[in-house]
Amino acid sequence: MELQLQNLSKQYGEKRAVQRLNARLTPGVYGLLGANGAGKTTLMRMICGLLKPTSGAILLNEAAMEELGEQYYTHLGYMPQDFGFYPEFTGREFMLYMAAVKGLDKKRAKSRSQKLFSMVNLQEAADKKIKTYSGGMKQRLGIAQAVLNNPAILILDEPTAGLDPKERVSFRNLISQLSRNRIVILSTHIVSDVSCIADTILMMKQGRLLLQEPMDTVTDSIRGKVWEVLVSERQAVEYSRRFPIVNLHHEKGKVRLRMVSETMPAAEGRAAEPDLEDLFLYHFGNQTQEEMEDVDPI
Ligand SMILES: Nc1ncnc2c1ncn2[C@@H]1O[C@H](COP(=O)(O)OP(=O)(O)OP(=O)(O)O)[C@@H](O)[C@H]1O
Ligand SMILES: [Mg+2]
Repeated sequence: MELQLQNLSKQYGEKRAVQRLNARLTPGVYGLLGANGAGKTTLMRMICGLLKPTSGAILLNEAAMEELGEQYYTHLGYMPQDFGFYPEFTGREFMLYMAAVKGLDKKRAKSRSQKLFSMVNLQEAADKKIKTYSGGMKQRLGIAQAVLNNPAILILDEPTAGLDPKERVSFRNLISQLSRNRIVILSTHIVSDVSCIADTILMMKQGRLLLQEPMDTVTDSIRGKVWEVLVSERQAVEYSRRFPIVNLHHEKGKVRLRMVSETMPAAEGRAAEPDLEDLFLYHFGNQTQEEMEDVDPI
């Protein structure tokens, strides 16, 4: 199974949302990272055939998507970023409805739904109305409907949005279970959601694919560029103006800063082991300052 993206571009009027993107994807979990507006949803909607590329091609096992026609869609499962649930449906009614849309026969729809309800741990809520579900329950239902047809390609757009820490952990386990022999593409701007489960990191910036790298080696490029320093509050303000700050921690009247810089930012700086969060900041710099502050408030 190979999904190939060839020179894929999408333009909305003047706006270039995806620009000449090339990638070859084989089974595994791909963490698609990028700041808001990077083009993640646009890319995913093109892969799902919901949005026509302005130029370029999508191929599955060397056959163009258009040639494959309906057959292409039988290989796809999609969980959109803004899922339009039917609040008056029960979870089960919704699953059976989605199964019908995907062309599953009734018997298979029933058995598959039952199996998936237990997989996403919604057995008890299956016959309750969706409007009574929590955010996390809706997300799990969204994933369950995406895998109804046992797709070889599973596209999840921001599937962890709105999950609490406990739900995040069970979500990761669920993805690991689902990922065998599939191409799973999972977009997020929360780095920690993918650092444990992705085999490969895809990073998009302004419509371009900035990197495609195995998780094991993804941070190699910033080795020696991540630093920790312990400074006064006044100095901390100074540093945060000059460098992208990954993390900031108050310690007995001083501030421990973790930052990304090409060279050692201060004599007392200590090189730190780089992680994915550092890499994200290295590429996106202050664009994500707000998000960083959300995660670790001052
Ligand atoms: N229908 C549209 N018409 C015009 N511009 C659009 C449309 N959809 C998206 N865009 C623009 O294209 C760019 C990419 O948007 P997209 O939704 O693909 O980004 P994203 O990476 O999914 O962002 P987010 O993290 O916020 O979900 C953005 O600048 C966005 O404003
Ligand atoms: Mg999006």
